[in-house]
Formats: sequence, C-alpha cells, structure tokens
Amino acid sequence: MLVTRFFPADAFKGTTVFVTGGGSGINLGIAKNFAALGANVAICGRKQDKLDRAAEELRALGAKVHAEAADVRDAARLETVIGNAAAALGPIGVLVCGAAGNFPVPAEELSPNGFKTVVDIDLIGSFNATRAAFEQLKATKGSVIFISAGMAYVPFPYQVHVGAAKAGIDMMMKNLALEWGKYGIRANSIVPGPIEGTEGMKRLGGGDYESSRYRSIPLGRFGAVDEIGQAAVFLASPLAAYITGTVLVVDGGSNLAGSTLFGQAIEAMRGAP
Ligand code: HXC
Repeated sequence: MLVTRFFPADAFKGTTVFVTGGGSGINLGIAKNFAALGANVAICGRKQDKLDRAAEELRALGAKVHAEAADVRDAARLETVIGNAAAALGPIGVLVCGAAGNFPVPAEELSPNGFKTVVDIDLIGSFNATRAAFEQLKATKGSVIFISAGMAYVPFPYQVHVGAAKAGIDMMMKNLALEWGKYGIRANSIVPGPIEGTEGMKRLGGGDYESSRYRSIPLGRFGAVDEIGQAAVFLASPLAAYITGTVLVVDGGSNLAGSTLFGQAIEAMRGAP
C-alpha cells in the first residue's frame, strides 16, 4: 500500500477511525489506509456478514477492529454503535461519513420515496453520524471527512436525488467547519471521481477505461480505491492541520468535462444511442 511509503507506520497509532459504509468499496479502502498506518478502525453498514469479511481484511493489516451493523438512517442505533466502538477502541478521532445510496433514474420516473431514500442515507445519515460522534470528536480535537460527489457541483443526468443529497453534505460540512472550529474539530469533503471496481461505477455505467465513455479523463485512467484512502489520510493528518471547510476533488480532472462523460456513459448503459 503506497501510503506506508510516505507516512510512518504508526502515524495513526492510538487514533480511532470510524467509517460509515465501511464494509466495501471506497469506504473500506479508506479504512484500510488508516489501518495500515496503525489506527484502530470501526466500521458500520447494514449487513453484519459483509462487515465481518471487511473486518478480517482490516485485521490482516494489523488493526484493532470493531465492526457492527447500523443503518445510518437509524440515528439511535448509530449512536449506540458509535458508543460501542469507542468503548472497544477508544474515542473517535476521525469520522468518515461514507455511507451512500445511488441508482440512475430520470427525474420524472423517480418517486418521492426514492428521492427521500437517497437524501436519508447520504445527507441525513451523515448528519446522524456526525451528531452522534460530536462529544468524542470534541474530546480528541478530531476530524470529519465527508464523501461527496461531482453531482454536488454540476447537474448530472438521472442524478437529481444524489445531486441534492451531496450538495447538502458539502454545505453541512462547511457549517460544521464554521461552528466546530472552536473545538478544534476540522471538517472537509472528498469528491471521488470514477473509481475502478466500485459499486458506484457498476451502477453508473463504468466498465473498462479504454472502451468506456469516460476515456477522455485528463489523467487518462480511472482512479483507484487507494487514491481516495490516501486523500483521507492526508486530510486527517497533521499535514492538514490548518485545512477545514474545503472540498478536495480526487478525480483525475474528470470534473473539467462537467457531466458530459457521465451523461454519455449512463445513456449508453441504458441503451440510448
Ligand atoms: C428508481 C428506485 C430504484 C431504481 C430504488 N428505488 N431503486 N427508483 N430506480 N433503480 C426507489 C424504490 O422504488 C423506493 O421507492 C425507494 O427507492 C426505496 O427503495 P428500497 O429498495 O426500499 O430502499 P433500500 O432497500 O433502503 O435501498 C436503498 C437504495 C439501494 C439506495 C435504493 O440502491 C441501496 O441499498 N444502495 C446501497 C448501495 C449503493 O447504492 N451503493 C452505491 C453508492 S455510489 P417507492 O416509491 O417505490 O417506495 C454513490 C456514488 C455517487 O453514492 C457518485 C458516483 C460518481
């Protein structure tokens, strides 16, 4: 893992990192990068068996792990699990709000409940986690990292629900950075671009880079899960001690093409010309 070449192996020793949605994909990749640097890692998600498998991967990197099921939409349950994680591993110093839901759908076909479901998971779920971890973050002078998306900045076709939820996350992040700076808590967002092998890319018309509609990404490739993990490690590290309220875009320059590449990929996936 590249991060261990540039950070000392004990860079996060004694720090508890809690990752919502940490059972797979980008969020598990983030958890692994912290685990490789000595952190204690807690993950939650909806399915315990998936969390158990992820926990094994994290333990293999040497981390102490707490993996317990919680749907981020259930604020009371999430509060309990965050409390259990802290009891097992120590107070939370880094909170990663990564749990998200997505499906591409034309706005006129999206039901009110479909819209609400994504806002509930992404936006309200992120608030629930942050709210539940606040006292611990205050005690540790900790850091919150939200996982946003390019949909927060430019409209993407068939993503009205996701755009609304992710734009809400980034504004919430800025509010929290403003209000909680006095406690020493930092808050930032990461915007991942098209990241290879993730559930998001499966749902949003990915495939292999050369034959995909995304092939004009300026850096000429999809991103890797670890590249988002590295960005999270940087934001949580002392190197970013004076960085709060910012959005870090990690997308190989994809955003420079607006939503055009995505729009083409999604139309191709749906069978439109
Ligand atoms: C239209 C849909 C739909 C679809 C669900 N709904 N899927 N509408 N098209 N494909 C509607 C349902 O009809 C229902 O509304 C409402 O949404 C809730 O659906 P449920 O299946 O009951 O919800 P739930 O079981 O809670 O599942 C949540 C989910 C699901 C978001 C719908 O897809 C999920 O669990 N996703 C988790 C994994 C995931 O999405 N990972 C990708 C994240 S990627 P009605 O009106 O019928 O009751 C990501 C990155 C974004 O976020 C940026 C990438 C670049």
